[in-house]
Formats: sequence, C-alpha cells, structure tokens
Amino acid sequence: MAGPAGRSSDEEALLQKAMRILPGGVLGGYYAPQELAFVVREAHGSRLRDFSGREYIDYILGSGPLVLGHAHPAVVAAVEAQLRKGTTYFQLSEPTLALAEEICRAVPCAEQVRFCGTGSEATFFALRVARAYRGRDKILKFEGGFHGVHDYSLMSVGPREPKAFPAPTPDSAGIPHAIQAEVLIAPFNDAATAEAMIEEHHRDLAAVIMEPFQRLIVPQPGFLESVRAVTARHGVPLIFDEIVTGFRFAYGGAQQRYGVVPDLAAFGKIVGGGFPLAAVAGRREIMRHFSHELDGSGEFVQQAGTLNGNPIAAAAGLATLAELRKPGTYERLFATGTRLKQGLEAAAHRAGLPVQVAGEAPVFEIYFTDRPIVDYRATLTADPGRHAAFTREMLVPGGREGGPEVLRLARPHRRRRRPHAAGLRGVADRGGGNFSLSGSISRQRRLRPWLIRTTSRISGTAARSPGGGGSA
Ligand SMILES: Cc1ncc(COP(=O)(O)O)c(C=O)c1O
Repeated sequence: MAGPAGRSSDEEALLQKAMRILPGGVLGGYYAPQELAFVVREAHGSRLRDFSGREYIDYILGSGPLVLGHAHPAVVAAVEAQLRKGTTYFQLSEPTLALAEEICRAVPCAEQVRFCGTGSEATFFALRVARAYRGRDKILKFEGGFHGVHDYSLMSVGPREPKAFPAPTPDSAGIPHAIQAEVLIAPFNDAATAEAMIEEHHRDLAAVIMEPFQRLIVPQPGFLESVRAVTARHGVPLIFDEIVTGFRFAYGGAQQRYGVVPDLAAFGKIVGGGFPLAAVAGRREIMRHFSHELDGSGEFVQQAGTLNGNPIAAAAGLATLAELRKPGTYERLFATGTRLKQGLEAAAHRAGLPVQVAGEAPVFEIYFTDRPIVDYRATLTADPGRHAAFTREMLVPGGREGGPEVLRLARPHRRRRRPHAAGLRGVADRGGGNFSLSGSISRQRRLRPWLIRTTSRISGTAARSPGGGGSA
C-alpha cells in the first residue's frame, strides 16, 4: 500500500519508527519536510534508492565526503582489503601514516598532522592547541562561519537578529554562558573592520578561525591576505577550517586555490573517504603541543580518541585522494559546476527571478535576492519562502524532469536511463561502466525548462513555507 508521495508501507513503517526512537525522527544534520522524508536503501555513484524503490540524484553525497560518489570501486576495494587485516588498532598503522604523509605533501601549511574522528573535533582541537601555544583564551571567528557543533563554534553561525560586532549570539541551547566572553565575532569580507578588531584585541587572542570560503561565500580579493597579514604581525595563529574545501577546491585545498597559507588547518569529509576521520594539520611549532613529550610541562594538549587515525578510514581516504590526483580531475569538477551554475543563472534570469547563485563551482547555493552574497547579512535578504519552495520542489516525487539541486538535497528521479548529472560538492556518475567524476552535464538543456517551470511556480509563492534544512 502506498503512503504519502508514493511511499511504500515498509518505508512508512521505518519513518514512523524513526519518529518514535530518534528525536525529531532524524539524525540531526538534515531534515526534509515530513511528507517528503525517505529512508535510503542503497546508493551507487550519484544515485540513492529509497525503501519505496524511488531513485534520487544525490547532490548531498554524504554532506561532502563522497566527492567520487557512493561506493566508488577504488574506495570499496581499498576498504575491503583493509577490513581483512583488522578494523582498528589504537596503534600506528601503515595506511594512517601514509595518509598523514600525503596531507603534508599536499597542503601548504601542513608540517605535522594529528587525526581525530569528526570535523567538529578537528576545529575544537585546532583551537585548543592554538590556546596552548599562545597562552591566551579568546578566539575570533566570522559571522555566519560554521566550524562544527562544539561550544566555541556555535556562536553567530546563523543569528536571526545579528548583534553589533564583536558580540556573539549562541546558536544552541546548552552552551555555557561563560563561553560568550571568549568569542569575538567579525564580519566576513570586511577587511578593514576585521583588521581593526584583530588589532584591538590581539593581546587576548589565542586564534582567528575562519572558513576561507565561508559557507557559500567567496572571499573578496585581498580579504584573506589582510587577515593573514594582521594575524602574522601579532603572532596570532590563523586557522583555516578546510573541512569543506580541503582536497575539493584544489588538491592542496582553499589555501592553495587562494594562495594564502594559515598556521593550522582542519580537514574532514573528503580526507576520510566517507568514513569517520578528520585531522588538524599545521606548523610544527604549534603542533608540538600535542606531543606527550610536553606532558607535565603545563603546555601539553590532551587529544586522544579510540578510533583516531582508524586504518579503514585512512585506506578509504588514501584511495579517494589517489583518484583525485589523476590528471584532469579538478578541471572536470570545476567545468561541471560552472556549467550548472551558469545554467541556473540563465534559467532564473529568463524566469525573471532575482537570484544569486553564490559560491565556487564545486559548492554553491541559490539565493532568491538581487543583492550579491558577500557576507552573512546579505544572505538574510534572500526570500526564505521562495527558497523553501525551491528546495521542496527538488524532493517532490513524480519524476519532474531534469531538476538541479542546491547543496543539501536529493531529488527523486524516475527514469533511470536518463540521469541528470551535475557537480555541487562533487558529483559522481557512472560512465561507460566506470565511476567517474561527472565531467559533463549532458542533459543540461533539460535543466533549463525544468528550472523555468519550477521557478515560475516559485515566483507565484506568496507565503513563506517551511522547508528542509540542515547545518552540515
Ligand atoms: C566548514 C565545516 N567545519 C566543520 C564541520 C563539522 O564537521 P563534522 O560534521 O564532521 O563534525 C562542517 C560540517 O559540515 C563544516 O562544513
């Protein structure tokens, strides 16, 4: 018996179970409107299949780790080989060392590496080691910047009513009030204000942390350079959160693409190949505080975890990086994303909608506003009702032809033999029996009529409707 939106009774039962035993019926990072929720049965390449047999083109790709797509043969083979040798050791192992060495080879700031399990841990430990190095407590972060879900990170990520800088707004209940006194908030892409704030507070600052490409916002020319210059002048460690951009914007991450080298960087997502692994990398002088040789000195940073540097995750990460090193990979990733971005812009223009397709080719988002997206406050000018309507359309079953997607959603796709392939965080598709990064949007011409139909529906959307969302 089919439930809402063609859902099978099996899938309906699973969703009801989720509602009973998981808070909100979800895992925490992503939620769809209840009537469009689904349960994944399996995934290959760029496709997800749910328990009702519906197929989706997946533009989430695990929220970013799966730049090669689901179940990539090279990653599966590497994981299978490692599985037979044991799953975790709590000791040094060859794949873990090889991955650390590869990070040091690839990433300009990386002289040493320390592994952990999640991106949140990586930024948390980067901040802790910076505090130990500097002997200060305060950190400065940027409004709208996301560094995971720990107490220092969840400050002014998404304030509904932003305060005057540098006052922080906690994004979660349960964060000790005292933390607010340790976090300063600066505006992204406003070099003069950020520089003045760092000048004023440098004596108290343990670190400045930033996403060099903040959420979907490209740094303006000179902005990263000016933050780098003022932090270097005062010896304040600069931390780049490269959890999204690492190995995605270039093999050496955003620091290679933008040519600005921080003191420390946090990595996650791609580096673990779809398994729980993240890393802090950076200058030896700072990283040495993680070494037990400092134990008892008062300068030693405790950082331990049962699964840190897990060999299966390391094998998956190494296999992913080996694919990314193949000639032409990044050119194809950028060419694919650029074509999709341009197609979206052109279709929105033809539909007479004010739209900004903000971001870089591998990661972008649609904002329904005529204001350029240069900082967090500009994102607040976007029409949330239109955005919610757009993202809902992406999930509506029924085989609407050739839809694009924005960053976090998947959409059902009925006709298996006519995939619509495109690149956001990274899109994979099967080509000639092989998995490959999708280098072509061969059906982009079908995207335009679809978007125009969709955007026409959206332009008629008066009320602000709730949509799916998520933070990772
Ligand atoms: C920039 C950034 N930093 C940190 C994190 C947290 O990573 P994780 O979800 O692995 O804890 C994320 C997650 O999406 C992220 O996008």
